[in-house]
This record gives sequence, structure tokens and C-alpha cells, in this order.
Amino acid sequence: MRKWIVAGNWKMHNTIAESIALAKAIKEGASDFKGGAIVLAPPFTTLFNVGEVIKGSNVFLAAQNMFYEDKGAFTGEISPGMLKDTGCSYAIIGHSERRKYFHEQDHDVNLKVRKALIAGLTPIMCVGETDEERVKGITQDVVGRQVKQGLSGVEEIDKVVIAYEPVWAIGTGKVATSAQAQEVHAFIRGILKDIYGNKADDVRILYGGSVTKDNVAELIAMEDIDGALVGGASLKADGFLGIIKEICVKK
Ligand code: PGA
Repeated sequence: MRKWIVAGNWKMHNTIAESIALAKAIKEGASDFKGGAIVLAPPFTTLFNVGEVIKGSNVFLAAQNMFYEDKGAFTGEISPGMLKDTGCSYAIIGHSERRKYFHEQDHDVNLKVRKALIAGLTPIMCVGETDEERVKGITQDVVGRQVKQGLSGVEEIDKVVIAYEPVWAIGTGKVATSAQAQEVHAFIRGILKDIYGNKADDVRILYGGSVTKDNVAELIAMEDIDGALVGGASLKADGFLGIIKEICVKK
């Protein structure tokens, strides 16, 4: 049985005061939602504060990115050890905005996933095709490559979470249909089966891209969708709690 995960990616939003207030509201509202994991990924500058708010609760802390070295002359970067020091237990890796604006390649994603595992952080590895790639009919080529290269050399697949986020659905309000999402999720699980055998059945695969409390029910009813990675709708406690409630009830 795979346990659901709902992760909120706050991206570059929220001051310290705003982050504390939002984390408090989510922690209070989510205390009854059992059986899965609720994860918040605030900006680096408020990780520690949010970590203090959610300590000892059923809400966990994630970074939106990390570097793959422990320390050294890497101006502007943050190591996995530093993230753990703030209270993080998860790290989002290879988000499409990192790939697009900061030119992260599958090779970087792979180094980060492997390093996160060594450091004891659960990587949430993001994959997904662009609009152009879907129209060209190469969704499976792209997602297949991202999954295989991102996981190259990774043995502890049971400690990895994958997020399928079609780039055309992120922040656009154009959510994938449940059938479109399920098709890719099943395809990803098939790749994991080829590499890892039965262990693939335990890997959580989240859907991300314009998830709201109004469209999540249909998505989460799909067999291979184990939770959601939520951007915009995670910035308001009500909307985010509504998503968690649907998933907690249905999974
Ligand atoms: P969105 O973002 O929910 O605003 O589409 C999802 C994500 O980027 O993780």
C-alpha cells in the first residue's frame, strides 16, 4: 500500500511573517489528516521558521532545490546538510522551472537525487514534457529519458518520490485530464518495474500542474496517482487543506 503525499511548493513567495502564518494555518487545519504525508516547501529564507512551526506535527519540511556538494566555494548554493539543519526531510529536485530558467540537465538532477539519498533527504524528482513535446508525440521519450537518467545509479528507489508535472499544466490552469495523467504515471511505473522489479509498486508518483481542490478528486481516483505537488493552490490554507482532505479521504 502506497501512502499518499501532498506537497505544497511555495516557489518564490512569502516573507518570514507570511510563511509562519500560512504554516500555522495548515498545521492546525491538517491535524486530523492521517495516513499520508503533508509536505511544505517554502523559500530557503523561511525554511527554519516554518520548520519550527511544524515541528512534531504531521507536516514535513522540504527544500525547493539543493546542491550536490557538502560544502565549499559554491557561491549561492545550499548543501543537503544545511537543509537538514533547518529541519528539512524532503527536497524537490529537477522542477521544470529549474530546468527551464537555470538550465538544469538530467545529469544535474541525477547528482542531486543521489546526494539527497546519501544525506537522508527524500528526493521529490520532477519530470514532465512541454506543450511542444506533447504535440510532437514525444511525451514518453522525454519523460522516459528524464526518469532513467535522473535515477541512473540509484538503488534505494523505495526512498524516492517522483512527480509527474506536464510543463504545459504548471501555473496555467490547464490541468491534465485524469486519463492523460494516469497514462504517463503508468508509463513511469512501467519503467520503474523494468529497472527495479516489484519495488516499483511501492514508489509514490505525484501529479503536479494546476491542481486545485475542485479538480483533485478525479486525478486522485486514478490507480497510479499517489498524491499531488501543488504550486499556486498551496499558497492559501483553505485551498491547500481542501486538496489534502480530498486525497486523504480517497486514498
Ligand atoms: P501549479 O504549480 O500548481 O501552480 O501549477 C505546480 C508546480 O510547479 O509544482
